[in-house]
Amino acid sequence: MFDAAELLIKDHRKVGKRFDEFSSGDASVVPEVCAELTVQTTIEERVPYAVLPEITGGDRLRKEAERQHEEVKEAVAHIEPRSVGSAEIGSLMRQVIKGVTHHVREEETELLPKMREELGPDRMASPGDKLAEAKRRELSRRGVLVGLTKNELYVLYELAQARASTAAPT
Ligand SMILES: [Fe+2]
Repeated sequence: MFDAAELLIKDHRKVGKRFDEFSSGDASVVPEVCAELTVQTTIEERVPYAVLPEITGGDRLRKEAERQHEEVKEAVAHIEPRSVGSAEIGSLMRQVIKGVTHHVREEETELLPKMREELGPDRMASPGDKLAEAKRRELSRRGVLVGLTKNELYVLYELAQARASTAAPT
């Protein structure tokens, strides 16, 4: 059982670390940042945001979060066709870092605590499991099985185990 908020926060930290690396002068992280942000925004919209209408003020939170995602996706779409060393990368990445940092802060201080409070730990586990599965699917669809964190490998292992035990004859 995975808690949706915990999984999202771990993903946020992963991207935050890449932002720090970029800010310290390592532009080689740009493709990974773009891929991570695309996967994360896609699965967030598909899974945890889908249950937002069930909580107080959830429609407003969802609208605002999706608007912020659109800005991030637009910036990523400008970055991806450019080479890592191109002149515009710096200002585009600064725009992404600023937007994502603001969005993550709102998600972690408002949206996720509200979801946790109103849905409770049991209900949070249900979008959490779906989220882990959506991430696995999205990563394998993109052929990304390198550079996974220990936690992501653990998620994949747990899902494989769960599937094996469901498929096993009783
Ligand atoms: Fe988000």
